[in-house]
Amino acid sequence: MQKPEKPQNGDPRSRPNKAVFIITFGCQMNEADSEAIAAAFRRRGYALTDEIKKADAVVVNTCTVRQKAEDKAISQIGRLRVWKEKRPEGNIFVVGCAAQKLGGKYLKNRFPFVDEVVGAKAIDQFEDALITQLGPSPEAETSHQNIYRSPQTAYVTIMRGCSLKCSYCIVPAVRGPAVFLSPEAILKDAAGKLKAGAKEIVLLGQTVNAYRHGKTTFAELLKKVLALPGLARLRFMSPHPVYFDKAFTAILKAEPKLARHIHLPVQSGSDRILKAMRRGYTAKEYLALIAGLRQAAPGLAVSTDFIVGYPGETEEDFQATLALVAAGRFSMAYCFKYSPRTDRPEMKADIPEAELEKRLERLLAAVKTNSLLVLKERIGKIEEVLFETETYGRASGNFAVRVKTAAAPGRLEKVLIASAEKNTLNGKLP
Ligand code: 5AD
Ligand code: SF4
Repeated sequence: MQKPEKPQNGDPRSRPNKAVFIITFGCQMNEADSEAIAAAFRRRGYALTDEIKKADAVVVNTCTVRQKAEDKAISQIGRLRVWKEKRPEGNIFVVGCAAQKLGGKYLKNRFPFVDEVVGAKAIDQFEDALITQLGPSPEAETSHQNIYRSPQTAYVTIMRGCSLKCSYCIVPAVRGPAVFLSPEAILKDAAGKLKAGAKEIVLLGQTVNAYRHGKTTFAELLKKVLALPGLARLRFMSPHPVYFDKAFTAILKAEPKLARHIHLPVQSGSDRILKAMRRGYTAKEYLALIAGLRQAAPGLAVSTDFIVGYPGETEEDFQATLALVAAGRFSMAYCFKYSPRTDRPEMKADIPEAELEKRLERLLAAVKTNSLLVLKERIGKIEEVLFETETYGRASGNFAVRVKTAAAPGRLEKVLIASAEKNTLNGKLP
């Protein structure tokens, strides 16, 4: 469609100083949704602002995976009351998982100054909410705005929702069962982002390796994305242990562009707890899986998630988790205190808070010690680093790497690692 050279009257682009402030809680899926929301605003002439005082519209993209995340979102929405009083013509949108869980009726009742509520299941309909509040977009084509990653990394959502039923998890309830995007839509999105300058693609989904669309499996999708021109590196988040297969291992082995890092949540090292969680594997099976992946891709970094204090977790169960930290050689691990997401009595948190705190501290200490060992193994090795700034980038294993001499942002360079500290490798460009 031919666009007028200059914005016409009534065209939102003729209002140059409009701005949107977007607050995102939670996971990369939410970040990717917020980027699509930012693009929808941009098509209407809005710039992104990081100063709420300068905003004409505010979006709160909420999370509810743990109670704390939901509480944070709620208090953030509460604080917008003052903003709206000062700017009654401004628009407030509340979206995402907590919006889905709590519902528009509840939220608008509690916070009458909120204009639109769009739950995670209906995020595709965000455009309708925008039309209601701001009118149609004068620009039809999709534009992209990278907010949460450096410009060379782009998120590409390949699925929504989750069809598993891990006992502790609210995601299937708020995001619905797994729905896979078509390979055509995914490749179009990825190719567009590469054309716009991205070098690294991160495929996103709650159980990203469960991907299947018609005859296209996850492994086949990876092959197609790997063949796109301009791609330097491919990552994906988060896979589930039960969905890895031989076809994936073969691609991992054959394709160096596939990152030598997998974030693979394990949750616990106790088979009894893993069974209660309905995870579908034992600790031994998990370890065998990562051993197989590491055999295919020597040096593969594996990071993970743990939940401490699942109902009925004994000291012995917890010890099994500590043992798994050492056995798994994780490069990094997120550790969460169990947070009940249902009122079912058997899902009540039953470990006293003081004990829970102690276990969390012990786990964090074990993870820290272990990941420093893993990091130190890289000293003396060559890492391929995708530079984000002149002196900072990420290795294929997702380790942060710093160099003193200037590299070119957006370029892949080989770096000789000289030392390791905290979470960072220091090296030299040869
Ligand atoms: N309590 C604590 N942590 C949880 N997670 C998911 N649900 C809960 C819960 N109810 C963690 C898991 C998951 C990560 C995204 O959040 O470790 O992998
Ligand atoms: Fe939740 Fe992940 Fe389990 Fe799905 S696979 S239910 S998103 S923890």
